[in-house]
Amino acid sequence: MTRPSEKFDAIILGAGGAGLMCAAIAGQRGRKVLLIDHADEPGKKILISGGGRCNFTNIHTAPDRYISQNKHFAKSALSRYTANDFIALVDRHAIDWHEKTLGQLFCDGSAKQLVAMLLNECPADTVTLSLGKSITAVSHRDGQYRVEYGGEVATAPSLVIATGGRSIPKMGATGFAYELARQFGLKVVEPVPALVPLTLGGEETLFRELSGVSAPIVARCGKTQFREAALFTHRGLSGPAILQISSYWKHGEAVTVDFMPDLSPDWLYQAKQHLPRITLKKAIGTHLPTRLSDVLIERIALEGELGNLADKKLEETARRLSHWRFMPNGTEGFAKAEVTAGGISTAELSSKNMEARQMPGLYAIGEAVDVTGWLGGYNFQWAWASGYAAGQAL
Ligand code: FDA
Repeated sequence: MTRPSEKFDAIILGAGGAGLMCAAIAGQRGRKVLLIDHADEPGKKILISGGGRCNFTNIHTAPDRYISQNKHFAKSALSRYTANDFIALVDRHAIDWHEKTLGQLFCDGSAKQLVAMLLNECPADTVTLSLGKSITAVSHRDGQYRVEYGGEVATAPSLVIATGGRSIPKMGATGFAYELARQFGLKVVEPVPALVPLTLGGEETLFRELSGVSAPIVARCGKTQFREAALFTHRGLSGPAILQISSYWKHGEAVTVDFMPDLSPDWLYQAKQHLPRITLKKAIGTHLPTRLSDVLIERIALEGELGNLADKKLEETARRLSHWRFMPNGTEGFAKAEVTAGGISTAELSSKNMEARQMPGLYAIGEAVDVTGWLGGYNFQWAWASGYAAGQAL
């Protein structure tokens, strides 16, 4: 026997940042919306992000801070819902915020305020929120999407995939978005962990002794570089500079680290002129945490007073310290990744409203899509902007 289904204008799967924003905008436009999540509360990643204060946007948001197979894809949505638009919303709800560093905006109080704000933005008469129920089947017939969830059935002419990526499975992240996309014939760019610590093995295991040591560095991979802090861990490398570069790193590639980003290439030669009696160890140790400089010096295998070391050797040493090549043997995976790179291919979607080109009424937004932002509020801004774009179209 077929169960009677409840009819909606749109069904949104996933009540994270993107799904909540989409539901709010569509609901405000008078659309009857069902927002479904298998978790027992909405916006869980908003709640845990930024140490509970959520780095909710970045004032330097720009399309070139996003990675995607189509680097132009995010432009349209990001330009129609900007960081300033989200700030205006936060201000309307009297939520205090501050800029921490590099344009990153955080709540002064708690990320709970943002989830409450997004829920308040969803009109009670148009948006129905269903929590804690698993989605068991999704199908499409006669222009209607049909969703079975927790023993109930709903239908709508529009369906939005907003179930996020695979990062942090412990928090309920699944590959559901990709399975659903494939079910409807949409291509998926292989999802990989991004903004993730890198692991070191082989000879580089030595660096694991430095667990807990951090230093300001420049990390490079190909033509991309980030100047921020790096942190050594018991498994390898982390810290903002490494998390950022991890999104660009591929297996088999080196990550080059400049441990002396503020010094000129001839700094050791200059030091030799002015302080010929100091040792190489002391010269390097002046600029780095002791444990780090000890390990680097051990690897460089050069010692003595600067005045007794050949200029060429000093030049080579300075170059090595500013182009230190790490060969990561992997990442800490989805369990530790802040986001998932890859996802539903942008080639399948309209950049204006996130609707699938070949599957009318099907939309994909947020992290589920092959658009990945830098660390620092960019991923939430994408969730808001893509959610807004689809919410305007439903
Ligand atoms: P999101 O993952 O938030 O939401 C998806 C929703 O779908 C979830 O509620 C989930 O329960 C639900 N779902 C999944 N599978 C389902 C299924 N099968 N059935 C039903 N529901 C299902 N970004 C940033 O800009 N600033 C920051 O400070 C941080 N900090 C941060 C910290 C940590 C620890 C993590 C893991 C991530 C961040 N991020 C971040 C990234 C940011 O959290 C992420 O990009 C957005 O939450 C993505 O929003 P979405 O709505 O697309 O997915």
